[in-house]
Amino acid sequence: RIVYLNGEFLPESEAKLSIFDRGFLFGDGIYEVTSVIDGKLIDSDLHMARLERSAGEIDIPLPITTQQVVEAERRLIKENNLTEGLIYLQLTRGAEDRNFLFSDDLAPTLVMFPQVKKLIGSPQEAIGLSVKSVPDQRWARRDIKSVCLLPQVMAKRIAKAEGCDEAWMIEDGFVTEGASSTAYIISADKKLITRGNSNKTLPGCTRQAALQLIEEAGLTLEERPFTLQEALDAQEAVLTSAGNFVMPVTKIDGKPVGDGKPGPLVKRLRELYLENAM
Ligand code: PDD
Repeated sequence: RIVYLNGEFLPESEAKLSIFDRGFLFGDGIYEVTSVIDGKLIDSDLHMARLERSAGEIDIPLPITTQQVVEAERRLIKENNLTEGLIYLQLTRGAEDRNFLFSDDLAPTLVMFPQVKKLIGSPQEAIGLSVKSVPDQRWARRDIKSVCLLPQVMAKRIAKAEGCDEAWMIEDGFVTEGASSTAYIISADKKLITRGNSNKTLPGCTRQAALQLIEEAGLTLEERPFTLQEALDAQEAVLTSAGNFVMPVTKIDGKPVGDGKPGPLVKRLRELYLENAM
């Protein structure tokens, strides 16, 4: 692969980072994941807006403009002949001798690389995803897309051990979100229920794009937390993320949601999302 490192496009074997990088030592950094379909970036403006916001919230200066980031991402797509997959971007505070405090003039580290991945027409699309509920053990600023992902790594490992595709994290009996996705349920009266954005969850870019389309899908929005029991009793369940787009959730903790098959409303919303994105 050709990757991006601080302004240079290099073969991945030549891209070298300091062992003193604060992303590595402290998890002092943020990231973005953007999908690519037919060589085109999906929801790019939303990801760039969130990148700027995350960086601003922890005072890491973006070394290039978001316009230049997008140009770099497009060059990676081209040089790697990427038609379908993801572009990963990471911005860290930079490298200097280990100290919790950092120098004001520290140069940030910016990395981008592509990942080939089949995003459309996977078997999961037809059968739906299974999720496992786990305690939400994260910090109080989940709205920042921080690279400190240990709770999510552990959550996904537990889900995988149970044969599940994703973990849904629970706090005070309510689902906060998936380990790397936004969580929703659909009620019998066609309400799409999901949390409003707050410091409790990451504001999903796919969520933002999908919510524009729900009316057309015959749904109305109800922004509020829902419990695990509500999810088990729901007509349909859904998750969204870059890479998954809009996906049906058909099993929670081994129990079927509705009749255990992807429902008509989530299918329609996925269709609309993909039509709109491409
Ligand atoms: N994860 N919530 C969390 C905790 C996430 O990590 C993600 C994305 C989302 C969905 O956001 P979006 O729709 O913007 O992808 C929600 C990415 C895909 C990842 O970590 O790989």
